Order: sequence, then structure tokens, then C-alpha cells
Amino acid sequence: MDLYIKDAAKLLQTTTRAIRFYEEKGLIYPQKAVDNNYRFFTDQDLLRLHTILALREIGIPVQEIKQLLSEEGMNTRKYLDIQRAALFEKWLEIRDMLGTIDGMVGRTEYSDFSMKDIHKLAQHLKNLKEQRKGWVDKWDFDSWADNFDSHIKQEGHGFNVHQGYDEALAKVVQLVERKENALVVDIGVGTGNLGAKFLQNEGSRVIGVDQSDEMLLECKRAHPEIDTRKGHFLALPLLDEQADAIVSSYALHHLPDKEKLLALEEMTRVLKAGGQICIADLMFVDKSHRKEVMDELQAAGNTEAIAAIEDEYYADCSVLIDWLLGHGYSVDSWQLNDILGIIYAKTEGERY
Ligand SMILES: C[S@@+](CC[C@H](N)C(=O)[O-])C[C@H]1O[C@@H](n2cnc3c(N)ncnc32)[C@H](O)[C@@H]1O
Repeated sequence: MDLYIKDAAKLLQTTTRAIRFYEEKGLIYPQKAVDNNYRFFTDQDLLRLHTILALREIGIPVQEIKQLLSEEGMNTRKYLDIQRAALFEKWLEIRDMLGTIDGMVGRTEYSDFSMKDIHKLAQHLKNLKEQRKGWVDKWDFDSWADNFDSHIKQEGHGFNVHQGYDEALAKVVQLVERKENALVVDIGVGTGNLGAKFLQNEGSRVIGVDQSDEMLLECKRAHPEIDTRKGHFLALPLLDEQADAIVSSYALHHLPDKEKLLALEEMTRVLKAGGQICIADLMFVDKSHRKEVMDELQAAGNTEAIAAIEDEYYADCSVLIDWLLGHGYSVDSWQLNDILGIIYAKTEGERY
């Protein structure tokens, strides 16, 4: 049943003034009765208001909320998805802050402790926050969603970035051990080509995470069984130690190198002990391999390939492997062609 503003405020435990404010700012647009001009609120209006209040509660500015809710055709699932993604981001921010404070408290025990330590730790926190919040989708993946699958099949003129795509996805599926009732998380799920392959496992659940709403819609359309969630590599919409396996294909190279390590840390957070990570992506074996490939492309005059590679952040596989080995994983890797590699990592009990 539709509610008047007073009843809506009471139900949502807010004030009529706050509701009018969000209306003035263009976040909500309740209809008005023709005879007396009173505003009335439908269930969808109430859900939208509830979302706005929840996001305000965790300190998200009004303008940012307006942006988050700007999409057409919002529905209950989307409102909840937006709230979940925002809450996870906030939760991680608070965890980072607590970790930093713990570090500061720990440092005060040392006799050589000085204010410099505090500044260093505060800077560390600022950097973390900037990295988690700073990523922007400069490629506009929403606009790719419609014809992404046909795009994969197209060969470039001088450079086919998806060369080996099918082979790589098949190898990921082959590498990841199939446990009964496993939870597999596919990050940068896109239209779901990799995640869907794990649905064939008896009892497996697949969560597909992506920062692009349109990709998530396409994924859901093609594979309704995938639990699609808005989120990103640096703030996964999952609680700690939930996943048996984390997979990702052709997505990690959209993060700058430093952020890739933060992404591995975030994967480690949501992975169960004994869990697996398998990443197929555009990468070079190491720095000298990158130089070798780039020199060859240069010599061949392949400017298309050079521009494409430089537009993204192809990984240095050796750096990822070092990080994983240093954090309690056993690791294997394969280079499938000049630019495509696979890393498979497994935790052996305790991680650190
Ligand atoms: C090239 S598509 C690959 C899609 C799919 N994994 C596949 O192999 O077909 C890259 C996907 O990664 C997503 N993506 C890129 N950067 C991301 C980030 N930081 N967090 C989450 N998703 C991201 C994009 O939105 C897009 O859907």
C-alpha cells in the first residue's frame, strides 16, 4: 500500500525533512496526488529511500549516491546489490584503519619509536584507501557487454588479444580441483564464460563478481544459475574464508601492478584454507620477456599491438608468483603464447 510522507518517515525511521531533502537533490521522485498534491510513496520508492539512508549511514556523499542510483530500471535486487557492494567497501576501509592503528600501537612499544612511524603508517593507510577507491573503468565495460562474446571471436588486424582464449579457459577448468559443493568465485566474470563452466560440477555454486552492471546483466541472462554480484578486485563482496576456488580470466590486467598485489591479498581474505586461485590473463613471464616481445613487435612495425599492450597493465607473472609464494601458496604457471599466461596457486593449510 502506498504511504504518505509521514508514514514513510516513520517506517524508515527518518524524518520528513530528510525525505524532502533527498527529493530536492533529485535522488527520489515520489508522485503527488492530483487532488491535494500530497506525496505518496510506493514500495519501490521506499526501497530506494531505504538504500539512500543505508548509504548515508556509512558516510557516502549525496552526490555519489545519486550517481550510484542513476541507472534506469532499478529493481529490488539491484538496490540490495549496491548496498552490499558499498558496505563491503566500507567494511574493508574500517579493517584497514584498525590494522593501521594496531600497527601504530605495536610501534609505540619500541624504544626508537618516533612520530615518523605514525606518519609512515598514516601514509600507508592513505595509499591503501586511494588504491581501493581510485580504480576507474577507463575502458567503459558497460558499453562492451552487448557484443562482448562476438568481439572475442574477432581477430585483430595485426594483433589478436584473445588468441588462445578458449584454450586458456579450458585449462583453468582442468587445473582447479573439483570438490563437491564447492564455492567458486569468478572475478571480472563478464558474460560468464569461465564461471559457467564450473556450474557443471555436482553441487558447485558460482559467484560472479564484476564492476560492470551491464556485464552482470548479460551474465545473468546467459547463466541464471550464477549468483552475480557487483564488486571489484579490491573489495570483493564476500565475507572472509568463503571460497573454495577463485578464478579469473582476462580481467586482472585492468589493474595497475601494485593493485594486482592488493587484489591477491583480497582473494586470500575470502579464500578458505586449502583453497585455490587460478588466473588466466594477459601477462609476460617477467620484465625481460616483456622487453623481448615488445622489441619483436617494434621490429615488425606492429604499432597496433604495442598500443594495445600499453593501454592496459599486462602482468609481470614473476611478481605475482613471488607474492603468492611469500604468502603460503604453492604455485605453478604456464605461458600459453607471447602474451597469455596462467597461474595456479594453492594454499597448504595456514596462510599468512
Ligand atoms: C575482458 S572482460 C573478461 C570477461 C570474462 N572473464 C571472460 O574471460 O570472458 C573483463 C571483465 O573484467 C571486469 N573488470 C575489469 N576490471 C575490474 C575490476 N577492477 N573489478 C571487477 N571487475 C573488473 C570488466 O568489467 C569485464 O567484465
